[in-house]
Amino acid sequence: MTTQPENHTTPAHDQRFGENHITIFDTTLRDGEQSPGCSMNKEEKVQVAKVLDAMGVGVIEGGFPVSSNSDFEAVSEIAGVVQSAQVAGLARARPGDIDRAWQALQHAANPRIHTFLSTSPLHMKYKLQMDPEDVYQAVIDSVTYARNLCPNVEWSPEDGTRTDHDFLCRCVEAAIKAGARTINIPDTVGYTVPDEFRDLIRMLRNRVPNMDQAIISVHCHNDLGLAVANSLAAVEAGARQVECTINGIGERAGNAALEEIVMALKTRQDMMPYETGVDSGYITKASRLVSGITGFNVQPNKAIVGKNAFAHESGIHQDGMLKNAETYEIMTPESVGLTRSTLVMGRHSGKHAFKTKLKELGYELSDNELKDAFQRFKDLAGHKKEVFDEDLLALVDDAVLRH
Ligand code: KIV
Ligand code: ZN
Repeated sequence: MTTQPENHTTPAHDQRFGENHITIFDTTLRDGEQSPGCSMNKEEKVQVAKVLDAMGVGVIEGGFPVSSNSDFEAVSEIAGVVQSAQVAGLARARPGDIDRAWQALQHAANPRIHTFLSTSPLHMKYKLQMDPEDVYQAVIDSVTYARNLCPNVEWSPEDGTRTDHDFLCRCVEAAIKAGARTINIPDTVGYTVPDEFRDLIRMLRNRVPNMDQAIISVHCHNDLGLAVANSLAAVEAGARQVECTINGIGERAGNAALEEIVMALKTRQDMMPYETGVDSGYITKASRLVSGITGFNVQPNKAIVGKNAFAHESGIHQDGMLKNAETYEIMTPESVGLTRSTLVMGRHSGKHAFKTKLKELGYELSDNELKDAFQRFKDLAGHKKEVFDEDLLALVDDAVLRH
């Protein structure tokens, strides 16, 4: 439930598209890559960036150039090969960071400097050890510095969701005045909940006088498993950029998952009439590429890209699916780049699914052969979690030999 009045002005958005366009800002190569077990070398990052570009994401955050020479080189190379997307590099609120980001980005067709500074009381006191007024001045100085190098500057108040609202409004207003054209609100520690986050975005639109001069972006972490829900709530309130990662990789519990954001918007147009320009047919390819490169496995029941996301094992579900896929599928496997639903054969599978699966494997058995093979399949499935194609092939050979 919202506690803020509605703001009826059109939210700022990428002018090349309509007002319901959501820019997908992919940070797999920066926030995703910096999480434990997810590091990628330059060649691997470039490979991922090419797929993201082909997929149609709006912005690719290639890395944090000042953090290492290899990150610097990766961002420079990505800047050189990416054709459509904007390429962003992260920088703290320091001239050295911003210079380094710009050196890496300057050859990009569409470069963006993304600079950030913590604004929450906890971060200012313990992490930065700075007074709020010094932080405020540093926001102005860093954005001004970045803007003198690059016309496309994004500013983020780190730990934005735990920042005092008055101070957040002042900093956002100052960053826009200094030239930021995207204001990204991070839920750095994954603390917010959808209603609260929706209200926060509405509050900014209502209270920051120049808010219409900048696109509002959101960047949600998944510590409470709410990153996607929070991002979508923010979109409803006027955010027009969402930051996310492939497979939801990222610090701790990760970031909002790109595939979930894109497919939620695509599947529920009736509730969320927004478009991202992303070709969802690339989702499986991108997911497998990132997980293959990092060795970071996708959990089997992960929405959209998990191995079971389009798999149906229970007999009732399999039977329904075979009659009409919409009975148990809200989106098609083809829409995310898979060729077909996977019928997982196990002890819950019925005869209809068994027969169809054999057909997929190239076998059409006589009634007696089928009866025999199905009985033997049920026996096997009784003591095996999943019956693989090889098991079925052995069963079929046996049944055919016996008849
Ligand atoms: O989570 C965060 O706050 C960040 C910022 C640098 C945007 O990743
Ligand atoms: Zn983050």
